[in-house]
Amino acid sequence: MEKSAEFSRQIQTMFGLVAPRYDFLNRLLSLGLDRHWRKVSVDFLAPSDGERFLDLATGTGDVALEIASRPAKGMHVCGLDFSLPMLLRARKKIRASQRNETIFLQAGSGEDLPFPDNSFDGLICAFGIRNFADVPRGLDEIRRVLKPGGRAVILEFSMPRRGPLGNVYRWYFDCVLPRVGRWVSGHPDAYQYLPRSVAAFPSREEFGEAMGRKGFSSIRLKAMTLGVVTIFLGIKEV
Ligand SMILES: C[S@@+](CC[C@H](N)C(=O)[O-])C[C@H]1O[C@@H](n2cnc3c(N)ncnc32)[C@H](O)[C@@H]1O
Repeated sequence: MEKSAEFSRQIQTMFGLVAPRYDFLNRLLSLGLDRHWRKVSVDFLAPSDGERFLDLATGTGDVALEIASRPAKGMHVCGLDFSLPMLLRARKKIRASQRNETIFLQAGSGEDLPFPDNSFDGLICAFGIRNFADVPRGLDEIRRVLKPGGRAVILEFSMPRRGPLGNVYRWYFDCVLPRVGRWVSGHPDAYQYLPRSVAAFPSREEFGEAMGRKGFSSIRLKAMTLGVVTIFLGIKEV
């Protein structure tokens, strides 16, 4: 328990330190594909009129902004994160895009969500859950705050299948990306942590099964960009 708390503090500090360069590095290191991955994830969420959504581990708010840009009327989107520097950046972007009537920000932990049971019609967690100290507990919390029948969409990095292109990607991800990340962010190891944490995260099949065991059904997996990222969709069983 104490080890988990210490791990969480380290992750929180790390994201706080990279927050100023986070968006720039996302665009650069993914060659702009991160925007496309988030858009497709929001397509999976399929927002409709009057629904309430949680963008879990919102960071600088890109997913919340993408949900709010959809044509559905009367939506409420809450962006939650435990990093205040990230939330401050999100707030600036939300104000600049005049979405502050739709998007609300909340500080809190993904493993202890500050919401009553059955609060949301849908939830997205993009590149967040891999960083949780206790992933099973995070899944329990996701399930708890969703309404019965609610949609959970998880977007995470995954490893592409072996083969020439997969090998080039592994070299880029393990060797090039950490160097560029360190140089641009000024953080000694945040971008070394990225490939390490992806390698330690369950495979797409294992994570899909873990969602099933946690009470999600109709699970769909979509590997994108040669399997560099995977979108998971699960419905909270009634
Ligand atoms: C890689 S960023 C992803 C941000 C955003 N979802 C995106 O698509 O760019 C991960 C975010 O998760 C947050 N985070 C990590 N673990 C968390 C936890 N246990 N509770 C709340 N936020 C967490 C970090 O502070 C960081 O902002």
